[in-house]
Amino acid sequence: HPSAADRVAERIHVIPDFPETGIQFQDLTPVFSHGVAFRVLCEALVDPFEERFDILGGLEARGFIIAGGASLLTGAGVLPVRKAGKLPRRVITETYELEYGVAALEVHEDQLPPGSRVLVIDDVLATGGTALAACRLIERAGWQVAGVSVALELQGLGGREQLEGYEVYSLLQR
Ligand code: PRP
Ligand code: MG
Repeated sequence: HPSAADRVAERIHVIPDFPETGIQFQDLTPVFSHGVAFRVLCEALVDPFEERFDILGGLEARGFIIAGGASLLTGAGVLPVRKAGKLPRRVITETYELEYGVAALEVHEDQLPPGSRVLVIDDVLATGGTALAACRLIERAGWQVAGVSVALELQGLGGREQLEGYEVYSLLQR
């Protein structure tokens, strides 16, 4: 039987020079489109953190998909960590630099009870800017980071180093 990693890896499409020259875009949409591969991915990202989280922090937009799938597998809910300007109530904002561009993430400051253990979920870890901003938001809100779990870690961009002090799991590394 192919491993979970193999079943996901074979469905990631690499697109050269998107959205900018020199960026090798890792497209996980074929993983999401395949029911079995998607389920295998969601299981793989939560398994290492079993019993150690209360809720899944999905990072807009691609992290929402995986966090939603993992939610139904585990019974844990989803904390939507949103791009700036989307949430209607009082928010905490954290800005960050992306591999290409600048952005900000937000959560409702009162979304979860104090001390809630949030497992941060995303598709790709590149520079780590997005995941680190999410971790900072979670802590500023008075919650705890259970860990960071991603489908694919792009090595050599410093993501894991940025997240020093947090438990980081990646199903695949490229
Ligand atoms: C991508 C990807 C990760 C992030 C990784 O999201 O989905 O969230 O970049 O990069 P980093 O580790 O250098 O921060 P992006 O903001 O491009 O958009 P999307 O998820 O909304 O499609
Ligand atoms: Mg993203």
